[in-house]
Order: sequence, then structure tokens, then C-alpha cells
Amino acid sequence: MRELFQLDPDLIFLNHGSFGACPREVLQAQRRWQDEMEANPVAFLSRRSGALLGQARSVLGDYLGARADDLAFVPNATTGVNIVARSLQLRPGDEVLTSNHEYGACDATFRFACERSGALYKRVHIPLPYQASAFVERLMAEVTPRTRLIFVSHITSATALIFPVADLCRAARARGVLTLIDGAHAPGQLPLNIEDIGADFYTGNGHKWMCGPKGSAFLYARREHHSTLHAPVVSWGYVAEAIQADTEGSTLAFDRYTGTSILQRRLQWQGTRDISAWLALPAAIEFQRGHDWPTVRRRCHVAAVEVMHALCQRWGLEPIARDEDFGQMTAIPVPHPDAAELQRRLYDESRIEIPVTQHEGRTFVRISVQGYTTEAEVQALVEAPALQSPAQP
Ligand SMILES: Cc1ncc(COP(=O)(O)O)c(C=O)c1O
Repeated sequence: MRELFQLDPDLIFLNHGSFGACPREVLQAQRRWQDEMEANPVAFLSRRSGALLGQARSVLGDYLGARADDLAFVPNATTGVNIVARSLQLRPGDEVLTSNHEYGACDATFRFACERSGALYKRVHIPLPYQASAFVERLMAEVTPRTRLIFVSHITSATALIFPVADLCRAARARGVLTLIDGAHAPGQLPLNIEDIGADFYTGNGHKWMCGPKGSAFLYARREHHSTLHAPVVSWGYVAEAIQADTEGSTLAFDRYTGTSILQRRLQWQGTRDISAWLALPAAIEFQRGHDWPTVRRRCHVAAVEVMHALCQRWGLEPIARDEDFGQMTAIPVPHPDAAELQRRLYDESRIEIPVTQHEGRTFVRISVQGYTTEAEVQALVEAPALQSPAQP
């Protein structure tokens, strides 16, 4: 499958997780949308974009198990998290609960939102080795009457763990606490049904494991929360909202501003921008469908877990979780305290592009195995000189 992607053939690319990689045919689909746009930018952006975005959203909704009306396109999961965090209207003394495994940028978003409003941002310690069965209880034990929201990843960044988010959302709902799931890594890597998960808000990336173009992501919100969310960039949708409120029942001609819900009215149009990444998401979904992605996913999971066991055995280290707690990424503990140095050596000596992450003072090589990854590439990691002996003290 490697030739279906544009990746440099001289590179051993084991870092799909950071920014994804997009198949040629999906990039071609995006290019075709851009060509159509440039043939008549006014027709495309003024007259067609509303309907085109609606079609793309509808295909995405079917894929994600969500109503299209409950989805808005955003450029990335960071934006999705920001929209929710900054719309919450936190008050002094409110609490937001999270784990100590969250992605730095999203952690920063909530720290900012909480500091600004005098709310408490509480990071619950989820220890390693990870025990999935204790996760919900650990978080829920920290809920107080002031807890407004629980925010966690579906799949964590540095530690690559799958959190049991459906169980968490159920428990949180029973206590009247809102949930935001950061699904940056989940769509495409896990079979997903967002409505079954039951989160109040869920944001996910198309450009990571769905193999969509960069800048393709979504924010889902349950219908009762649409009117609480605000766009990071206020634009024409807010004017349309005012007009619509004045002329009840009238259909506005400019669906590029309005979409089909308040959520979309506020988020869909944020000034002139390139919408081709979102329009190409159906091509990404079709690409995965055409290549039997459930089988690809299983094969990749097995390879990611096998390499973890092989390297753990070499160092006499225990994996940080059970095999089923990982998807197509595993976080492999290594006895190398200098993460940057190990990452540099893997790249410079072996041309292996792979992140070396740190969590609570421990170092992990986080491998991503995607459909294009070959056994020889995974083996190259096992044989890399930088991983043959522990780092010298
Ligand atoms: C768990 C998690 N959340 C959010 C993000 C941010 O994704 P993006 O850069 O597309 O906003 C990442 C990126 O790797 C991530 O790992």
C-alpha cells in the first residue's frame, strides 16, 4: 500500500500519529475541489459551498454514527477543544476534571480557560501500568458538586492508551457532569459510533487515522448544547442568526452561512478559507472502505503490539498496558532518559521517523503502524543501533 501514499520511499515512517499521511487519491480529490474553486471562486464559495459542505457532513455523519446536524467542520482537534473550553462560561470555583495523560496543547487550552475564569483545573492521576477497569472510578471519585465538565482523550498522545470513554460518559451523565472527548486519534483507528459513546461534545481529526487531508476535523455536539457553543471567529453566521430570529420561518438564501443547525450557523463560515480538505473527507472514507480497513486495522494493531513485546523483552521492561488497551499505536518503554537524543539518533542513523515521548519521567518510543507500514520497516526499528543498548549514564 506504500505506493498509494506520497511518503518519501527512503524514509521509515513510523509516525502516522502526529500529523497523519494522506493517500494520493485523496489528495487528488482535494486538488480537484481546489481546481473547481479556482475556476470560479465566486460560484464555488458563494453559491455552492453550503450544499457541498452539507453533503460532506452527511457522509461523515454516517461514518461516525452521528447526525449531520450535530457536526461542524473545524480545521483540527485543537480548535474543537478550544471552542468547547472557551464557550463553557466557567465561573470562579467551578471545576474541570481531566487526566494526567492529556495532549499538551489541549491541556494548555483548559488551563487558560480555567485560570481566566477562576475555575479549578483538576488533573487526576491515572497510574502506569494502566488499568482500564479502574479508570472511570478514579475520575468519578474526584467529581464534586462544582464539577462542570470532564475532558479526556479517547486515545492518548504520549502513552497511546485507549480510554473507556463510553463508560466514562455514562457515569458522568448520571452525575449531571458534561463530557468532552478529544478524539484526535480515534476516527479511522477505532470503529466509532459517537452517539453510542454518549459524550456531550466530541472532537476528532480526519487528517490523522482517517487519512484525510491536513485541516480536516470535526466537532460534534449534542443538539441541546448547540446554542451554547461559540465560534473562535465570529462571522456572517451570527448576522444570519439575527436575521433568522427576526424573520421566523423564512429560509435564508445563503446556506453557506447557515448550514442546518445553530452549531453550523456559528461555525461554518469564518471568512474566506479553503474548504477542500473537508470536501475530500468522503474520498478518504471511500479509500478506507475500498481497502477493507477493519482488516488493515487488525493487522496494524497486531504488528504494533508485537514490536512492543519484542522491545520490552529486550530491556526486561513491562508494557504499560494490556494489548487491547492499544490500537495502531503503542508506547514502548525504553531505558533512554534523553528522549530528544534517542529520536535524533533513530532519524539520523536509521532514517526512522518516530516520536520518542516522555510521561512522568519515563521515556517511550511511540510507534504508529498504518496500512502502508511494512514488516521490514517495523523490523528496522527493532534492529536500529540506537535501540541495541541502554543509553550510557
Ligand atoms: C490526543 C491529542 N489531542 C489533540 C491533538 C491535536 O491535534 P491537531 O494538531 O490536529 O489539533 C493531538 C495531536 O497529536 C493529540 O495527540
